[in-house]
Amino acid sequence: MRIYMETYGCQMNEYDSGMMKAMLRASGHTLVGDAARADAVIVNTCSVRERAETRVLGRLRHLRGLAGRDAILGVVGCVAQRMGDALAREVKGISFVVGTDQYALLPDVLESARNGLVRFETTVDPTESYVARPDATEAGLCEFVSVARGCDNYCSYCIVPYVRGRERSRPARAVVREVRRLAELGTRDVTLLGQNVNSYRDGSADFADLLKVVNDVDGIERIRFATSHPKDLSEGLVAAMADLPKVCEHLHLPVQSGSTRTLERMNRSYAREQYLSLVDMVRERVPGAALTTDIIVGFPGESEADFEETLSLMENVRFDSAFMFRYSVREGTKAAKLPDDVPEDVKIRRLTSVIELQKAITSELNGKLAGSTVEVLVEGPSERDPSSLFGRTRTGKAVVAPGPGALAGRLVPVRIERVTAWTLHGAMAENGRR
Ligand code: SAH
Ligand code: SF4
Ligand code: F3S
Repeated sequence: MRIYMETYGCQMNEYDSGMMKAMLRASGHTLVGDAARADAVIVNTCSVRERAETRVLGRLRHLRGLAGRDAILGVVGCVAQRMGDALAREVKGISFVVGTDQYALLPDVLESARNGLVRFETTVDPTESYVARPDATEAGLCEFVSVARGCDNYCSYCIVPYVRGRERSRPARAVVREVRRLAELGTRDVTLLGQNVNSYRDGSADFADLLKVVNDVDGIERIRFATSHPKDLSEGLVAAMADLPKVCEHLHLPVQSGSTRTLERMNRSYAREQYLSLVDMVRERVPGAALTTDIIVGFPGESEADFEETLSLMENVRFDSAFMFRYSVREGTKAAKLPDDVPEDVKIRRLTSVIELQKAITSELNGKLAGSTVEVLVEGPSERDPSSLFGRTRTGKAVVAPGPGALAGRLVPVRIERVTAWTLHGAMAENGRR
C-alpha cells in the first residue's frame, strides 16, 4: 500500500513515527508524501494540551475529506491511546486506532483495514519496549533514539503517564546497536530520548553509564539527551556531561514554575532553591553549558506573587531558551480536580510576559556570542539563502554562514559576526574537518 503519515507532538512521537515507517517498509509498503494519493493515511497524535488535541481532531476531519473515498484513515499515538474507540464517534470514517504500546500490530491492523475490518488496539502493555524494531534503512544527520518509554512521575497537570504507560528502559545493548546502525547510515548527532532520562536503568547501569557506551560509537560526533527531571539530576550525569567529549554542553531541565508552593501542587518533588542549586552545579562543572526549560503559567491557584517568582527565577537562571505554555486542564489528571481558577485573560497576560522576558534574555545571551568562534555541524544549505550553509552549535543554536551546503555532515569553525532573533550569522573560519 502507499502510506502517508503525519506526526504531531514531541520527539517521542517523531521517533515512534520513524519506527513505524521502518516497520511498514519492512512489510512491503511504500511511504508517500501526499495524502490525496495514499491508500492509507496514518496520523500520530498528541494530547498534552487541549489545543493540541482539538487541532488533531480538526486535522483528521480534513484528511478524511482530502484522502480518496476508499482510503484507510488510521490514528495512532497519545490521542489514540486516550480516546480509543470514542475517536470513531468524533471523526467519521476512521478505519483503525492503535495506541502507544501496540505499534507492533500496525502491519496486521492495516491488512485488516484493507479487508474492511475496523480495529481498536489500545491495550496497555507494561512490558513493551520495542526492542525488536526493524533496523533503520535510511537515516538523517541528526536522529532521535528512544532509551525509555512511559513515565512514572505523575506531575499533577500531565497526561503523559496515562497515555504512555509505566516507565520502562530499553536495554543498553539495544540502544547502542541502534546508534551504531545509524552511524553507519550517516548520522552524526543523536538525541537520546526518554520522558525522564535520569531514571534510566539497565541492571546496574544508569544513564551516565549509557552515555559512556554511546560516546564510544565511531562516527557519532555529538550526543544530546532529553528530558532531565530536576528531582533525579545526578552529579554522575553532570560529570558525564563534563567528561565525555561527544556529550554536548546543553541541558534541557524543565522547571515549570519558580514558586515552591506551585511546584508542590504540581507534584514536581523539588523546591525553587533546589532547582537553583542544580543550575549552579551544572554551571560550575560544565562551563558554557546552554540551559533550556519548560514553563507553565496559570496553574490552578497560581497567585500574582507565585507568578512573579517564575519571572524572577528566569531572570536569575537566564535560560538560553524556553518552551512556555498556559496551563490546560487534562481530564483524569490530579490537577483536573483543582479549580481552574486563573482567568483566561490572566493566563494570556502571564504567558505574554514570560515570552517577552525570555526573548530579551535569549537575544542578550546570543548577542554575547558575537566575536567568538563556535563549532558548527553543517546540516545543509540554508533554506532562506542557498549560497549559505545552515548548522548548529554544540549548544543547539542555529547558525548561518556563507558556504556550500555540500559540507553537510562536517564540523566547521564559524566566527559569529551578528545575531538575529534566533539565529547566529557568521563566516567560516576554515574549511573544516570530517
Ligand atoms: N517529560 C517531559 C515532557 C513532558 S510534556 C518533561 O517532563 O519535561 C512537555 C511539556 O509540556 C512539559 O514540560 C510541560 O511544561 C508542558 N505541559 C504538560 N502538561 C501540560 C498541561 N496540562 N498544560 C500546559 N502545559 C503542559
Ligand atoms: Fe509529564 Fe511530569 Fe512525566 Fe514530564 S515528568 S512526562 S511533565 S508526568
Ligand atoms: Fe509527547 Fe504529546 Fe504524547 S507531548 S508523549 S506526543 S501527549
